[in-house]
Amino acid sequence: MHICVVGAGYAGLVTAACFAEFGLKVICVEKDTEKLHTLREGKIPFFEPGLEELVKRNAEQGRLSFSSDLRRGVRESLVIFICVGTPSREDGSVDLSAVDEVARQIGESLDGYKLVVTKSTVPVGTTRRVERIIRECSQGAYQFEVASNPEFLREGSAIEDFMRPNRVVIGAESDQARAILKDLYSPLYLIETPFVITNIETAEMIKYASNAFLATKISFINEMANLCEVIGADVHQVAKAMGLDHRIGPKFLHPGPGFGGSCFPKDARALAHFAREAGVSLELVEAVLRVNRQQRERMVEKVERVLEGVEGKTLALLGLTFKPNTDDIREAPAVYIADQLLVKGGILRAYDPAGMKNASLVLDGKITFCEDAYEAARGSEALIIATEWNQFRNLDFGRLKKELKRPLLIDLKNIYEPSKVREKGFEYIGVGRG
Ligand SMILES: NC(=O)c1ccc[n+]([C@@H]2O[C@H](COP(=O)([O-])OP(=O)(O)OC[C@H]3O[C@@H](n4cnc5c(N)ncnc54)[C@H](O)[C@@H]3O)[C@@H](O)[C@H]2O)c1
Repeated sequence: MHICVVGAGYAGLVTAACFAEFGLKVICVEKDTEKLHTLREGKIPFFEPGLEELVKRNAEQGRLSFSSDLRRGVRESLVIFICVGTPSREDGSVDLSAVDEVARQIGESLDGYKLVVTKSTVPVGTTRRVERIIRECSQGAYQFEVASNPEFLREGSAIEDFMRPNRVVIGAESDQARAILKDLYSPLYLIETPFVITNIETAEMIKYASNAFLATKISFINEMANLCEVIGADVHQVAKAMGLDHRIGPKFLHPGPGFGGSCFPKDARALAHFAREAGVSLELVEAVLRVNRQQRERMVEKVERVLEGVEGKTLALLGLTFKPNTDDIREAPAVYIADQLLVKGGILRAYDPAGMKNASLVLDGKITFCEDAYEAARGSEALIIATEWNQFRNLDFGRLKKELKRPLLIDLKNIYEPSKVREKGFEYIGVGRG
């Protein structure tokens, strides 16, 4: 079967490469000429473990190709996945202009039956809107259908998440659409992946409810951490014991500087917004977002408090991405914290294994980018860990002590055991650790 994936971003490129790996013939359409050029050279325009090899192999074996020509993509395919960005607007609503544009182009390119699938995270009602736009632009000349198939992959483990998902959600109206989508995902039947087959609105809603719930867990444990800090309890132990309760589970109970990235903040804001428009106030989701904003600010206050002000002080910042194993800095708490520390007069030396190129687009000229953690530590009055990259979990404290002006570790991701760090002659400040 031939399929078309529109948008070669974090979600689209993984989708295209993984479907090609399933044996399908995939044409991936990208409008950014620079990205397209990179892809055609066999490289990928961002960092995602394993993706370059996967893209290269499938391109070489003729199953994956790249184009800027959506008309060709539509004409050569039975199924078209829309994977373009759906960023937040100022008021929290979703900017659907890229989705609308693709829908218009699909409508103008139809030449026979097509199944158009929204994989981008879109507010409930958007897949119907796509259907309306295509119908208007194709003037009813051809039969087509729409479906929703939200994507749950996580940056940093995107290929594994796509290849071995917890579930596949399909929102479709007809037996034909359901059968086509089930067929595309047939390799996942062999590994007994659960399929949730539902209507379009429910499928769209599942994605938002899932992300909002995960964001809620994070804001919840961050609130508990803030209380633990004041009353002398250790949130690490609290979270561990809570997680052992099977009804709760251990995941997403790690306190820190709050959630970031291109999905949780944007999707929680969008959910709250489209709920409000539907006349429903989502008090909990609004609170989750508020707690998250405050959490980042608390981290800045924490650094200021420990150092009794940061003006004129040199600080080492480890981690700039919103999570490890990605170069994505969209809404990264680390970038917010860096920005605020700069505003307060701090001098920053930063290191991130993959995020410095993107970070330089927003912080260039304002901070010093370093080769590694030790260079960042040189002459600094504190070492701040803001992203839990594996390579930060086993730092050489002897070496750090020689580089740092003051042996102070501010561990905003709680990756170290406080007593062990103190044994090495360091002051240790974590999040919610009494
Ligand atoms: N990033 C993730 O981990 C993730 C996970 C699940 C779902 N999603 C969702 O997937 C969608 C895409 O997210 P992303 O992170 O991949 O975004 P992204 O910004 O990395 O990628 C979007 C891509 O679409 C391209 N594009 C825009 N308009 C186009 C057009 N008319 N024709 C062809 N290409 C076009 C852009 O140039 C860009 O390369 C969003 O709705 C997001 O919420 C993302």
